[in-house]
Amino acid sequence: MARVLTGIQSSGRPHLGNILGAIVPAIQLAKENTEESYIFIADFHSLTSSKDGVLRKENTLAVAAAWLAFGLDIEKTVFYRQSRRPEVAELTWYLNCFTPFPMLANAHSFKDKSERLADVNAGLFTYPVLMAADILLYSADLVPVGKDQMQHLEMTRDIATAFNRIVEEEILTIPEARISESVKTIPGTDGQKMSKSYGNYIDIFLPEKQLKKNINRIITDSTALEDPKDPDTCNVFKLYSLIAEESQTAQLREKYLGGNYGYGHAKKEFYELILDKYAQERKAFDFYMAHPDEIEVKLAAGEEKAKTEGEKILNRVREKLGFR
Ligand code: ADP
Ligand code: TRP
Repeated sequence: MARVLTGIQSSGRPHLGNILGAIVPAIQLAKENTEESYIFIADFHSLTSSKDGVLRKENTLAVAAAWLAFGLDIEKTVFYRQSRRPEVAELTWYLNCFTPFPMLANAHSFKDKSERLADVNAGLFTYPVLMAADILLYSADLVPVGKDQMQHLEMTRDIATAFNRIVEEEILTIPEARISESVKTIPGTDGQKMSKSYGNYIDIFLPEKQLKKNINRIITDSTALEDPKDPDTCNVFKLYSLIAEESQTAQLREKYLGGNYGYGHAKKEFYELILDKYAQERKAFDFYMAHPDEIEVKLAAGEEKAKTEGEKILNRVREKLGFR
């Protein structure tokens, strides 16, 4: 029996990269497991990049609605907001004191972010320790995440191993990352990694008109309409093939190679595919966004369960370190 755990930050609206890279694989993995899974909204983490409380609440709701719209089964899942379980902040402090400074200083994501962002705060620096605490507090075995999170998982394993060695007891479970091979990194409208923070994302939950505009932003080259086009270098084709059936992708490839088929046509097909494939999820998302109370009830139930479970590990850690 393996316990699955994963989280998504509430730093923006959930996008296609989050859905294909995290939400769908995690729900699938949770279904395959008999043990309860832990799925949460990493709202504490979102404070490293966004300071707007009103926006955070909205984004937290939207991320929760996306999980529910994609079929998260709350009977089999502990579904919660990270911030409603402050035990995680306490564990983060303990783990901070077991984390070598150079490990954090060398993290790719910190280096990346500190080059790009104006606000390089200490929270950004210790971000991986809070993530380790998320995972270790609930003794997770499997953590489905996108490829960009692999180093964070390595750090979690290193921190847990060091902790167990130093206290001379196997208190923390060493987790494994689950990277979905077929999706890996989903490109954004500009061909770079799709991310909330790069403004290049596809939001499949937008109303029709806005969704169309969103898709029209996908960058393509200037090959003339009548000329054949290379599907393998086209962002529209890449995104389409990630959600289409194989036969649909093969048909689109033929159209690209045949000429007299423009990128505008391809975008329209991608748009229609989203409306068709995600019709049910779009409807469910709108329902939850219009009924935040329904989301609240589900999260509150998860938060109760998470408390009991998290305290088990925390009490052992407190005891071992002389805080109990
Ligand atoms: P963002 O980069 O948009 O802020 P998060 O960091 O909140 O996204 O990521 C939440 C989850 O979604 C993680 O498991 C992450 O690996 C996955 N994810 C985010 N962007 C992508 C992407 N472009 N391709 C695949 N997975 C992604
Ligand atoms: N850092 C993750 C991301 O940006 C989100 C996250 C926070 C997470 N805590 C986690 C993912 C614990 C998995 C497990 O994608």
